[in-house]
Amino acid sequence: THIEWDIDMAEKGGYPDFMMKEIFEQPRVVRDTLVGRMVGGELSIDELGLTMEELNLIDRVYVIACGTSYHAGLIAKNLIEAWARIPCEVEAASEFRYRNPIITPSTLVVAVSQSGETADTLAAIRDARIKGAKVFGITNVVGSPVARESDGVIYTKANKEIAVASTKSFIGQVVSLTLLALLLAQVKGKLTTGQVRMLFREIGDTAEQIQHILDTQEQAIHEAACACVDAQSALFVGRGMGAAIAHEGALKLKEISYLHAEAYAAGEMKHGPIALIDPGFPVIAVATRSPVYDKTVSNLKECEARGAKIIVVATEGDADITEIADHVIYIPVVRDAFSPITATVPLQLLAREVAIMRGCDVDQPRNLAKSVTVE
Ligand code: G6P
Repeated sequence: THIEWDIDMAEKGGYPDFMMKEIFEQPRVVRDTLVGRMVGGELSIDELGLTMEELNLIDRVYVIACGTSYHAGLIAKNLIEAWARIPCEVEAASEFRYRNPIITPSTLVVAVSQSGETADTLAAIRDARIKGAKVFGITNVVGSPVARESDGVIYTKANKEIAVASTKSFIGQVVSLTLLALLLAQVKGKLTTGQVRMLFREIGDTAEQIQHILDTQEQAIHEAACACVDAQSALFVGRGMGAAIAHEGALKLKEISYLHAEAYAAGEMKHGPIALIDPGFPVIAVATRSPVYDKTVSNLKECEARGAKIIVVATEGDADITEIADHVIYIPVVRDAFSPITATVPLQLLAREVAIMRGCDVDQPRNLAKSVTVE
């Protein structure tokens, strides 16, 4: 047989587009981001450039970022507050730089940027350092301005990302921020080294879990995409970690398929978005097993009663969800803290599938740039 093969296909590793290739690289990104981080049974992030004493003094954290990187920050806030018990705020860099945030020498600013050169994020870093904060950069680009201008840096090991919509970098950011949260918790004495070791192992397990999703959920995602493709608008909902994941899901869908999407914390639906719901309106929910699972399900029942078309990212073994969901995409059982690493993946694939069905260029969406180096 004769196989058609050109340079374009070779660059994409045989995948139809870079986005797909990059989504499928995510198990590797998880593994690579963890390499060298557990040394002699101790979590180690040497490049942070701060001593344990300095880390221990930190009493406030700001995560500043833009776009998808901002959503990684939403996840970090949950983990830093839950584990390290340090107050943490997440802020768009474009907002942070123009207000007067409370910064002291014990403030840690974590700047998250795939490209390491986003203008607003850089400006925010400079401002924070002048005001005396310690700054960590989390970036995918070695030697980038964010890396150079921060006190310390964690590299996300995603390798070059070509599709404008960020996928594998996001997963690398979430894994890196999870490690940072574990480190802060350990330094503050809120988690024992034994607990940190166990959690670290579980982060590693997500690589296989992502692979499992990629191997098994294609058909379910395709069917869910068919349910959204002709919609005018879609609503993404979740609670807790699920809310953060919903925000990233909505961004992916709107940026590459041009289908209007917004995300809401499910409990807030009754204060506005529920007015949008009429028969056939797509509601995409993250309702994996978590302490707030039942609450999310009851919000979904309200959508069901109004005729919404309900697509749910749920945990394997959750058969009850089929009673309210029109389409279910299953992910393996995972600790709630790590659910963003896996549950985001089906939403990336869903966005891509809808965009392809709508005839969009998934790698190069209109009006968007891979890195935004001007304000
Ligand atoms: C642009 C890109 C997004 C990205 C954002 C932040 O808008 O299109 O994919 O999330 O910039 O970029 P950064 O490189 O700072 O993470």
